[in-house]
Amino acid sequence: MTQARIFLVDLLNFSFWSDVDIADTGDPHPDRYRVTFGGASYTGYWSMVAAINRALEEGIPLTTPEFFASETSLPDEEIKRIFRSDTIEQIPLLNDRIRIIREAGKVLVEKFGGSFINCIAQAQGSSLALVNIITSNFSSFRDEAAFCGRKVQINKRAQILVADLWACFQNQGYGEFHDIDEITMFADYRVPQTLYHFQCLQYSQELLDILDRGELLPNGSPVEVEIRGNSIWAVELIRKRIQELIRKEQELSSSEEPLKMQAVNAILIDFFIWDFAKAAQQDLARGQRSVKVHRTRSVFY
Ligand SMILES: *[C@@H]1O[C@H](CO)[C@@H](O)[C@H](O)[C@H]1NC(C)=O
Repeated sequence: MTQARIFLVDLLNFSFWSDVDIADTGDPHPDRYRVTFGGASYTGYWSMVAAINRALEEGIPLTTPEFFASETSLPDEEIKRIFRSDTIEQIPLLNDRIRIIREAGKVLVEKFGGSFINCIAQAQGSSLALVNIITSNFSSFRDEAAFCGRKVQINKRAQILVADLWACFQNQGYGEFHDIDEITMFADYRVPQTLYHFQCLQYSQELLDILDRGELLPNGSPVEVEIRGNSIWAVELIRKRIQELIRKEQELSSSEEPLKMQAVNAILIDFFIWDFAKAAQQDLARGQRSVKVHRTRSVFY
């Protein structure tokens, strides 16, 4: 993937849970938003990626900021068509997606010479600097909340954008960051569900009842911020524990040839948990220690 495509994907990397697929078992409801591309059909996050790939294959220069900034080159109706569904459910928050595409295009054109490359360059190899540049210049990435009188910066999409650059470019070129381990997990609705399943998070009975009833939690409400904030901390604790285990293994191994174990950071743990969550969606929704994902409609995750 190019840096421009990674930027667009993470610009729109939010709110894929379905209003019609209440069961959420990974065996999608027939009416659920769905995109077919290259002979396969996709729901959730992958439906957005498929719609972007479908548009690029149709020859639409969708990753070019100058093109998507302007209604003249890319009318709203055309964005609607690009994200068209195979089913009756449309992509969630379509109007917000249109607004966010425009805003990002304009900022890239007006402040960054029309290319995300210039944001990356400004960060000079620091992942934290890049998160800061992204969140302070693009309002749709500014994922923060007030909690008990304090400002909490969660920045899910900005951090995942940096992480995707790092992973796709294998820590080289556009993806080379000297402080990548400072990035924290990407607080969404799938990862907390899995952390709960593995008993890394505990929920109060009151919260379990709210989730069971499928109540909407407003973005920024205390309960929602708690779920996201605790997920971040849970992954930090998992990371510390894994590092401890690696250290112990290394001490035990013969000193002549120390074990070469990969360092682990929050990104790798998050990727692992998210992949697990998708693969085990049915068990997570129905099995032991199962809980429904929390329902928040937000452009931040
Ligand atoms: C983007 O944000 C950073 C950090 O706040 C700021 O220093 C920088 O000047 C901004 N970039 C542009 C081109 O405005």
